[in-house]
Amino acid sequence: MNAADAIPNWDSLIRPHEVRGSMYTDPALFELELQKIWYRTWVYVGHVSEVPQPNDFVMKSIGPQAVIMTRDKDGEIHLLLNRCSHRGNQVCLKDSGNAGSFTCPYHGWTFTNNGKLRGYPFPTGYEGVDNSQLGLGRVTRMSIYQGFVFGSFAAEGPTLEEHLGGARETLDRLVRNSPENEIEITAGFLKHQVRSNWKFLVENETDGYHPQFVHASIFAVAKSGIGDLYSSKSTAVSRDLGGGHSENDLRPEFRRLDKPLGWFGTSAERLPDYTAKMNAAHGEGRAREIMIDGTPHVMIFPNLFVAEIQIFVIQPLSVSETVQHVTAIQFKGAPDINRRLRQQTMGSVGPAGLLLADDGEMYERTQRGVQALKPDYLYLGRGKHREREDEQGFVVGDATDEVPTRGMWRHYRSQMEAD
Ligand code: FES
Ligand SMILES: [Fe+2]
Repeated sequence: MNAADAIPNWDSLIRPHEVRGSMYTDPALFELELQKIWYRTWVYVGHVSEVPQPNDFVMKSIGPQAVIMTRDKDGEIHLLLNRCSHRGNQVCLKDSGNAGSFTCPYHGWTFTNNGKLRGYPFPTGYEGVDNSQLGLGRVTRMSIYQGFVFGSFAAEGPTLEEHLGGARETLDRLVRNSPENEIEITAGFLKHQVRSNWKFLVENETDGYHPQFVHASIFAVAKSGIGDLYSSKSTAVSRDLGGGHSENDLRPEFRRLDKPLGWFGTSAERLPDYTAKMNAAHGEGRAREIMIDGTPHVMIFPNLFVAEIQIFVIQPLSVSETVQHVTAIQFKGAPDINRRLRQQTMGSVGPAGLLLADDGEMYERTQRGVQALKPDYLYLGRGKHREREDEQGFVVGDATDEVPTRGMWRHYRSQMEAD
């Protein structure tokens, strides 16, 4: 694709079981993705627990755009853009804090944390100016599901619930592992920058084919059984949830194991406080089921990955640069399991963690690999002959099949082709 040929030939770029290498390397396509996906669809921004008190704020993003997520004095959440309405300076440089207003450093214009212009120095120079028209920019729509705050720059379009569709239930499944039915994002974020296109990350999050090979060393060191969940003998399934969302549903294996907290590599006896609170909240029978099923492994298109015990937020910076923001999930009211959730997160995706380093290496090598001119396409046909529908009508495949990737590309194409 180039400027003279502004409408891409989608039939040649994306086919049911293959995509062209240029899908990951073409800067013009990246610009189009910003318009058609990142600045249009619902994108995950942050979690309400990151701004627990009135006047808290935290710096977030939608793709390359900085977004200030604030909670105003009345408790309302706002998604503001970091650009002074005077002459464009950034009004906030902090990652987080507590402030009722933001003062631009250039000429001192001040904005309240709900985005309104409060005032400016030497106001006689602005006789007759309507201050209500000079607030900060904001993300056009905001909506919250289970504490997850999403933003969309499109004034109209599907509601957040419609956008989440089949993935909505996975967030319900996540929060019910908290005795208070709420998760908290309070453990702090690590940022991992990779020289790779963002779609390689999205595809990899629910790629059940790679763990046995890419993560063989950490599974061996940790004596982990996770690798077996992603083998050709596994009863786990890969599922296309529609809307570009997908999951590796490991519950069939956990149910076979029939052990509460087996999904987390531990047992109810080792986490007695958590288990007691879950029993009190749900009743023993239901608590047992929840603690057997565990939390989901789900990619919510385009940027929120819930990886059982962590969330990853994917932020594209350019066609070949992406940041993953990673943090441990915390269950409200469950300090004993939260400590372990943080420890395991440090071991797998912390600065010296092995798991994300393995994946990061693959992202960068793949990005370099697809620069080669031949073959034209990447092959995504694994398991296409055994795709089937589950009882809810979702397309599913075996644990190692490329059902999620095919679903992602189907949705991606529909977004990119839309007017
Ligand atoms: S650019 Fe912000 S006050 Fe002038
Ligand atoms: Fe991986």
